[in-house]
Amino acid sequence: MSTILPKNRIGSKGSKSLSRLSALLETSQELAGKLELKELLEALARRAQDLVHSDGVTLYLIEGDFLKPLVSLEDYSEEILSTPLQLGQGISGGVAVSGEAEIANRVDLTGRGFLIPGTPLEAESLLCAPLKYENEVIGVMTLNRLGEWEFTPADLEFIKGLANLGTAAIWNARLYERLAKSERNYRTLFNSIGEAVIVHDPETFRILDISEAAVRRYGFTREEFLNMTILHLHPPEDRESIRSRVMQGVRQSPAHYDNIRHRTKDGALVEVSISAVNIEFQGRPARLALAVDVTEQQRVRRELEQARKLESIGLLASGIAHNLNGPLSGIQGFTELLRATHPEVTELDIILKQVHKIKDIIRTLMLKAHHQEEVTPRRIQINELLKTELAFLEANLFFKHEVEKHFDFDPQLPEVWGVYGDFSQAFLNIINNAIDAIYSTPKKALQVRTSHENGWVTVEIKDSGIGMSEDILSRIFEPFFTTKLPPDSEHVKGPTGTGLGLPASRELLARYDGRIEVWSQPHQGAVFTIMLPSAEQRRIEQKDGERYSVA
Ligand SMILES: Nc1ncnc2c1ncn2[C@@H]1O[C@H](COP(=O)(O)OP(=O)(O)OP(=O)(O)O)[C@@H](O)[C@H]1O
Ligand SMILES: [Mg+2]
Repeated sequence: MSTILPKNRIGSKGSKSLSRLSALLETSQELAGKLELKELLEALARRAQDLVHSDGVTLYLIEGDFLKPLVSLEDYSEEILSTPLQLGQGISGGVAVSGEAEIANRVDLTGRGFLIPGTPLEAESLLCAPLKYENEVIGVMTLNRLGEWEFTPADLEFIKGLANLGTAAIWNARLYERLAKSERNYRTLFNSIGEAVIVHDPETFRILDISEAAVRRYGFTREEFLNMTILHLHPPEDRESIRSRVMQGVRQSPAHYDNIRHRTKDGALVEVSISAVNIEFQGRPARLALAVDVTEQQRVRRELEQARKLESIGLLASGIAHNLNGPLSGIQGFTELLRATHPEVTELDIILKQVHKIKDIIRTLMLKAHHQEEVTPRRIQINELLKTELAFLEANLFFKHEVEKHFDFDPQLPEVWGVYGDFSQAFLNIINNAIDAIYSTPKKALQVRTSHENGWVTVEIKDSGIGMSEDILSRIFEPFFTTKLPPDSEHVKGPTGTGLGLPASRELLARYDGRIEVWSQPHQGAVFTIMLPSAEQRRIEQKDGERYSVA
């Protein structure tokens, strides 16, 4: 991160979104390159069960007109595994047809579910997500919770993300299984694998066949590949160690290698995970390697690690602040005593003034750390929250000295309801973007205004920065979309980013039915308007509205 623009990113993405994102990342890494379908499905089911705590998980894949249960982590897994569902049958069968994820809370009370023979009818809630590959449903992931324990919309969103991750891996594994079974349609199957597949001679390492995805990724033509050995794909300094690893691994099938560097034709390095198996190719033993590109995942992982480090620095800082309070009170007490006995020493007033300043800083820091630890929702005064966040940002020297600030807080602002950290992170991400946007413009103004109307709280965050074109504007909520330099680019001056701020903000606010609207034009700055229902309003709506349960 740039040293010129010390960003106050402590907890800016929020530990909850952080851990969710990193869980998704870890899962995608675990799944990447798993070629055995059963093993892959089991890993996916276990992840789903751990990440969205549930009593059971079953994974179904579509075969003909049926949903075939392939993996079940349940009390009655034997019964479940021996009961294929017809498409359309029960909640899971319905999701296979509609292609839309759904929650069926207390499905035992609705009579909608299909009762699997040999299992009891008990209090149970279901969450079913389709496994979709390019709009085609290939299976369903069904989670259940027993008793009164229901699923929430947030669980649904998370499982949808997990299902998306799983599907690509399942697709590859299935193709691979078919590929291994039959030589028929070899080429079509081979090329429909979305990742680079490299078939090579286990003794000479010569490349014997290559998938179209590999040609696209590495930039070598098919003919060039066929004149190379797999060692050519590695940077020269790695080749010796790769050679011995490959020779050792040849008897293993499948073998898995992580953190491998490949080099494309134009010299760019990509990081891959490789799974390799023994096959027969044109009547001779050969080795098939699937190389999954994990460059992007690794980059994000490093960024997440950085954010986690910052988070623990935040905790450390609040601990230090706490410990400073004691000696500081001592200094204050003795100085006051001295002033009483030596009123002629005017410097003592200056000391006291400085002490008060330090105490203010410490108070802000501790207040923030304290709020950040809260996990239960409560009534929150957004004006106070924004004031604390903005005070905290003063540690950013660019913000403190160069930014023209206009704050206008509505004194009648009603309270909202939610977890403090969710709101503070959501706003901080947007404010940080505004600060980045004015980094290089001549006018550096930031305006924060709050107002209310009809039970809704509005926060307007306006900057005089670089603004956005329509193209950019249409993509800003996409995860990983960024126009900034990557955080690990060294010696850069200016804003860096991962493209996770706004999607995180949107998700955090959506938990409380909050909305974000954006206006911007190139060179005209940007206005982010956040609307949140007041605590009162939410109560009214929830009383009138339907409960979230699918019957
Ligand atoms: N106030 C703004 N003015 C101009 N562009 C903006 C503004 N806010 C967001 N953007 C654009 O939206 C993109 C996405 O923003 P987002 O906060 O999601 O990611 P980021 O700021 O690039 O990285 P991160 O927040 O993860 O550090 C930015 O890269 C930038 O192009
Ligand atoms: Mg950002």
